[in-house]
Amino acid sequence: MSVTPLRWTDRLELLDQRLLPRAERWLDVRGAADGARLIRALAVRGAPAIGLVAAYALAEEARRNDDLAHLRRAVRRLAAARPTAVNLAWALAQVMAAVEAKPASERFGAALAAARRLHAGDAAACRAIGEHGAGLFAGQGLRIMTHCNAGALATGGIGTALGIVRVLHEQGRLAMLFSCEARPVLQGARLTAWEAVQDGIPVTLLADSAAATLLAGGRVDGVVVGADRIAADGAVANKVGTYPLAVLAARHGVPFVVAAPTSTFDLACPSGAAIPIEQRGGDEVRRVWRCRVAPEGVDVFNPAFDVTPPELLTAIVSERGVARPVNARTVAMVA
Ligand code: MRU
Repeated sequence: MSVTPLRWTDRLELLDQRLLPRAERWLDVRGAADGARLIRALAVRGAPAIGLVAAYALAEEARRNDDLAHLRRAVRRLAAARPTAVNLAWALAQVMAAVEAKPASERFGAALAAARRLHAGDAAACRAIGEHGAGLFAGQGLRIMTHCNAGALATGGIGTALGIVRVLHEQGRLAMLFSCEARPVLQGARLTAWEAVQDGIPVTLLADSAAATLLAGGRVDGVVVGADRIAADGAVANKVGTYPLAVLAARHGVPFVVAAPTSTFDLACPSGAAIPIEQRGGDEVRRVWRCRVAPEGVDVFNPAFDVTPPELLTAIVSERGVARPVNARTVAMVA
């Protein structure tokens, strides 16, 4: 795997995903306010990755000011950057728990160690998800469809949905990855297709509206996607466009698999209706890479995520195993 969204080199740096695939530019993150701004602007995105960036940004903040009240304010600021992915608040809570147990002089060290632990833990989770998920698919020559980017660029490891794809590729069983482009921000076109090309994974890009044609034509053996939050009943919030893909997959008898680390599960959230869905600015839809493609100022509906109900899912895979069928009991076992 040649791709990573962030690195700690005595300071936090992140790969500016807004510029991919045209340019690879690394940005310094100078504390919590900077981290929150870059997360909100999608310089880094993907549920586990924003949790890790927030964790390291909080460590950076602790280096500058180790006062607990100040750090609690920094946590609130980072956690508010994006509302849907529960990994963000989860990662911050882990770092804060480590910091609160220490005297002021040790808080930076404790925060950094906690962020590093989360990073290593996410890499291990991705690998385990990849192995469990690959076991769901039998045979050779597999054609797998995905949506958005749930790959290395979205995590601290090989990816969640793309972790499964990478393991199938390592096993010599992947014939093709079909990547939906994921309008409006195009994470599928700009990030998943780029990541696959970097690593020599066979990939075909399609417009979101072309997915039905492939599924109806029997040309897809499975759909695998990531998640931003999984409710206790197994409802899954993920990139907008996931729900229609799940409906299509059910209509055509194609397995639909969600892959996510335990940090994405929110058992305090009873159902999909309780998941907060981020609404983003209209210019993401009115424009494609700064080029206007709609009347100036036209009203826009732009939810960043949608919710897929559990009955449309074949399985949910975490590092702890596979929930299949998906219901409150099996979800609790892998959460
Ligand atoms: O808006 P984004 O790009 O952060 O949305 C990302 C997704 O929806 C991913 O599928 C999800 O975070 C899983 S990443 C392993």
